[in-house]
Amino acid sequence: MKALVLSGGSGTRLRPFTHTSPKQLVPVANKPVLYYVLEDIAQASITEVGIVVGETSNEIRKAVGSGDRFGLRVTYLPQEAPLGLAHAVLIARDYLGEEDFVMYLGDNFVVGGIAGNSSTFRAERPDAQILLTRVSDPSSFGVAEIGCDGRVVALEEKPRHPRSDLAVVGIYLFTPVVHEAVRALTPSRRGELEITDALQWLLDGPYDVRYTTISGYWKDTGNVADMLEVNRAVLDGIEPGMEGQADAASELVGRVRIEAGAQIRASRIVARRHRAGRVTDRTSALHVDRGDCSIETARSSLHHAGRLPAHGTRRVQHSLLGRNVTVAPAPRVPAGSRLILGDDSRVEISS
Ligand code: G1P
Repeated sequence: MKALVLSGGSGTRLRPFTHTSPKQLVPVANKPVLYYVLEDIAQASITEVGIVVGETSNEIRKAVGSGDRFGLRVTYLPQEAPLGLAHAVLIARDYLGEEDFVMYLGDNFVVGGIAGNSSTFRAERPDAQILLTRVSDPSSFGVAEIGCDGRVVALEEKPRHPRSDLAVVGIYLFTPVVHEAVRALTPSRRGELEITDALQWLLDGPYDVRYTTISGYWKDTGNVADMLEVNRAVLDGIEPGMEGQADAASELVGRVRIEAGAQIRASRIVARRHRAGRVTDRTSALHVDRGDCSIETARSSLHHAGRLPAHGTRRVQHSLLGRNVTVAPAPRVPAGSRLILGDDSRVEISS
């Protein structure tokens, strides 16, 4: 069994982060989403991985290389334009040959991974197997309609009026029959060859498309709250530890993990409610210079090499910080607030 990982596209949703980084390299708890994908594939005992790349090809190649460090053999498959997920399958035809494969979108994250689903698929070998999950905004996804016999009857791509709240997760298990399906497609309204249409083609034919429902799923739909939530889920699972440096004037409170290369100076790092705060990644440092600062990382995501010269910066929370960011106190904090309030107003001002 092989894997086909999709890492093309320009990623407009999480802007401003994806101006400088492909969406697959947006970090979750300081690690690119794509690394979780590759680790998950390795965990499912798959070693041959084709990565479909587009305009951000250089960044993806630089981040993943040969795949060695994940225990994978990676082949890069250039896609000349983002013409759809089914188009990616089309161009990967020769690479995939007659093998079954898992198609994994490089910006999707599933808590718990795919090992269980892929072993069921290998054992039972339906023509295709998809993963579904309940979401609050089905219009941002492919949506499945389940019949009274409990089988998928229809799939619709980003419907305006969704027929269920079951979103199609960006992980698909296929036998080679899918190649016939993608060859039969014509571009959708958005001008793409949709994998949803390929699955519908299988459903309309004599093919067995199965599904499992999962929880603990995240993808970038442009929602920063969701991004912080997936960070929180991952941070919850990390072990506290100190591999970096903190000076005597610093204090670490709660389940904090400081990775090698991080330097904490005269600062207080707090992970609240037993949730893990983790600062910086393994290659670079979050420098907290000067000052008495309290950084609440439990609900914030700090991308690496951020810099907080933090004198007077009381608290950073519910935040997403990109790379090479500087958070500094405003030069002059106004001594008072200017208020123009109508009758019966109530305003709360923090001291
Ligand atoms: C694609 C699929 C959609 C699926 C989603 C999951 O959407 O077309 O059916 O629900 O991935 O990530 P896209 O990322 O192209 O918007």
